[in-house]
Amino acid sequence: MDIYIDTANLEEIKNAVDMGIIDGCTTNPAIVAKEGCEFESRMKEILALVKGPVSIEVTTIDVDTMVEEAVKYSKWGDNVVVKIPMDANGLRATKILTEKGIKTNVTCCMSSTQAVLAAKAGATYVSLFYGRIADMGYDAMYELADAVNIFEHSGFESKIIAGSLRSVADVMTAIRAGVHIVTVPPASLNKMYVHPRTKETIQEFLDFWADYKKKHK
Ligand code: E4P
Repeated sequence: MDIYIDTANLEEIKNAVDMGIIDGCTTNPAIVAKEGCEFESRMKEILALVKGPVSIEVTTIDVDTMVEEAVKYSKWGDNVVVKIPMDANGLRATKILTEKGIKTNVTCCMSSTQAVLAAKAGATYVSLFYGRIADMGYDAMYELADAVNIFEHSGFESKIIAGSLRSVADVMTAIRAGVHIVTVPPASLNKMYVHPRTKETIQEFLDFWADYKKKHK
């Protein structure tokens, strides 16, 4: 199971890379727009910083333009994965890019049904949006677990990414559902290593040690 960071914020990415806890990074047009950064230079900085796959999303839904953008992105680094939105055109673009040997992440999937078609079109990764599935009143855990089960018994090579994770509980639910990858926003990632009892225990040990040092100078 791999953990990716879901952000285009360089400081957050550096922080996670320094702790050795991430295997890749995902971005999308909304994430980049929130950063207010220059797109190409920021993506190249992220590609240099993260050793694993970095998903960069196309900004159109027209097949030819998606393929054109994808081919351009793929030249930015060996670890580029092009995010393609799930729909009929997205599947067409995925097929073409797979034939060209460009890695794809079919994104915005809200059901195991869509995930199956993305895998059939040759997607390297398929992103299921946990939080947005739950927002619509569907059982997001079921959709993830169903996709995992189908991919396993169908022998699909595509990896399932759980995205749109909004809490540590969401992250752990996705991991328990058996997805290959969770992509976690920095806010949740930075809560995953914190536990009040751990903090207390460390402090208790330090206090004992300070007392011992006072007595054994
Ligand atoms: C995943 O690849 C997406 O970037 C992201 O998780 C979307 O999540 P949202 O529902 O918070 O926009």
